[in-house]
Amino acid sequence: MIRVYFLAAALGASLFGAAPSGEEVFKQRCAGCHEANNPRIPRVEALHRMPAAHILRTLNWGVMGNVAYTMSIAEREAVASYLGTHEAPAAAPPGAYCADRSVRFANVSETKVPPQPQWNGWSPSATNTRYQSPHDAGLTIDGVQHLHLKWAFAYDGDTTAFAQPTIIDGNLFAGSASGVVHALDAKTGCIRWTYDAKGPVRSSILAVRRGKSYSLLFGDQIGWFYSLDAITGKELWKKKVDEHDAARLTGSPVEYEGTVFVPVASWEENRAISADYACCTFRGGVAALRIHDGSQVWRMYTVDVPKQIGKLWGPSGAPIWSTPTIDAARGMLYVTTGDNYSPPATATSDAVLALDLRTGKIAWSKQFTMGDIFSGGCSAQDIQCGPDFDFGSSAILVHYVNRDLLLAGQKSGIVYALDPTRKGEILWQMRVGKGSTNGGVQWGMAADGQNVYAAVSDLSRARVESSNPADLRTANLDPNVGGGLFAIRIIDGTKMWNAEPEHTCPAERPGCSPAQPAAVTVTPGVVFSGSVDGHMRAYSSEDGTILWDFDTAREYSTVNGIKGHGGSIDGPGAVVVGGMVYVNSGYSRQNGTSGNVLLAFGTD
Ligand code: HEC
Repeated sequence: MIRVYFLAAALGASLFGAAPSGEEVFKQRCAGCHEANNPRIPRVEALHRMPAAHILRTLNWGVMGNVAYTMSIAEREAVASYLGTHEAPAAAPPGAYCADRSVRFANVSETKVPPQPQWNGWSPSATNTRYQSPHDAGLTIDGVQHLHLKWAFAYDGDTTAFAQPTIIDGNLFAGSASGVVHALDAKTGCIRWTYDAKGPVRSSILAVRRGKSYSLLFGDQIGWFYSLDAITGKELWKKKVDEHDAARLTGSPVEYEGTVFVPVASWEENRAISADYACCTFRGGVAALRIHDGSQVWRMYTVDVPKQIGKLWGPSGAPIWSTPTIDAARGMLYVTTGDNYSPPATATSDAVLALDLRTGKIAWSKQFTMGDIFSGGCSAQDIQCGPDFDFGSSAILVHYVNRDLLLAGQKSGIVYALDPTRKGEILWQMRVGKGSTNGGVQWGMAADGQNVYAAVSDLSRARVESSNPADLRTANLDPNVGGGLFAIRIIDGTKMWNAEPEHTCPAERPGCSPAQPAAVTVTPGVVFSGSVDGHMRAYSSEDGTILWDFDTAREYSTVNGIKGHGGSIDGPGAVVVGGMVYVNSGYSRQNGTSGNVLLAFGTD
């Protein structure tokens, strides 16, 4: 009983007491700026004309993200509902739909099963190499140099495009910041069906065969996990995998013999910016669910149940942001973890953990940064801040001649090669960046048979002297710091080449930086890496010369008739299938340039 009471206090009274009043939240959290006479800030009258759903998205995934960090979901919903209008969102114009609104797979009647996906979830294979075979890529080095825009699709009302598509037999499936999952024709971008999830869908979608169709499996940013039928877009089941108010399913799921493995992370780090928040109670982990009905096989947590220690709670954190990696031969699931949020520090933070696929028990773990406790309010909370060196990217399992290696890139800026047969013993390591809270290595590396390719973020804020906390210039990015791409030989960690960052930021664009936090993709001979300045570049895997460079930060006329503009590239990376390259552009978090487009490039 006592324990329940304390947990309730820790989670915030709003969950258990009266629902927060939207008007009160506005007065306390928004009025200071939105009732001020400042030409950069829309007046409250303008907010009253916006749809409530749009305001909520602005708080969750848009320009007000930094303001909303310390607010509970209930407070965000209350203020959005108080401020905004409530008409149903406008449906896409009829011309945006394909003539045939259902997904079809070729030859199913003869072969009885649908064809293999060409890009499925985070990486074409569950080893997370992000390597696309020549057969499925369908793109030569010469072809890369002739890539041009075939179509652009805009996510209505969004300021971020952060969900990487999955592609099966000419059908493209992708989530969005507004929570709408789209099935599009991969060649033309017309819509076949849409599905509304409860929260923003950032995880890429894993397709698992189900009779003549597929189950589409993905998580959202408020802790729900879904299974849809690929042909119709109808929900098969959904399930909340974590009850914590701040839970977030960012990493993509992977599958093994009828079980789907769901990595669980959170944004509780940011709740702790407010000094009265009882930091912290979230526990990172993995949920293993039966694909046919979502029932639980096992659930593992990276830290023990938190206890109250003074005014704080701990242990907490060690979230899993990245996609787990399957090692079928050893019966292992590898996950990479983030930092702890509050004391005590645990041995499972900033680590690579090997879990038994059948039970979720930790077989071995290898920690890279000890004692890394970090939350958005280290000083407000009186916590000693760690360096915030999470792993945001997956471990990559590669086979080289006669041995297996696990490759892991950390926000510290160091790339490691581990021996999976010797409990993760370090085989080599190499520094590629300075490291920062926004990554050294941030969202993902790629590996072909020879090299691992690591892009460097090192995103940095410009130094602006200002005593006014509402001065938004203090959040502008440094246009001269960050970026770069390294090719490292897998067998011994030798640097093969590195490409210096390109400096193309126009002076008038405050959300511009050369940082390359987005995940890398490799096809034979070509490495794709996007950057916060909006450029998607293709580099030669031989020597790092740039083969193709497209600045996505501009306006587009789109196939679905919605106003589209590009911005920063952050989060996932390029998807290469059938001679086409698919790229997300727009990322308003981390003070990047907002945007709302999925772009498709082709050679013909
Ligand atoms: C520190 C000052 C500040 C606070 C506090 C603040 N805002 Fe804002 N808000 C701004 C500024 C500046 C902009 C314009 C940003 C831009 O256009 O890039 C803005 C824009 C917006 C927009 C428009 C986004 C769009 O699509 O054009 C909405 C909606 C919004 N704020 C809602 C809120 C709500 C709700 C709160 C309180 C929970 C809030 N803001 C608190 C400064 C603030």
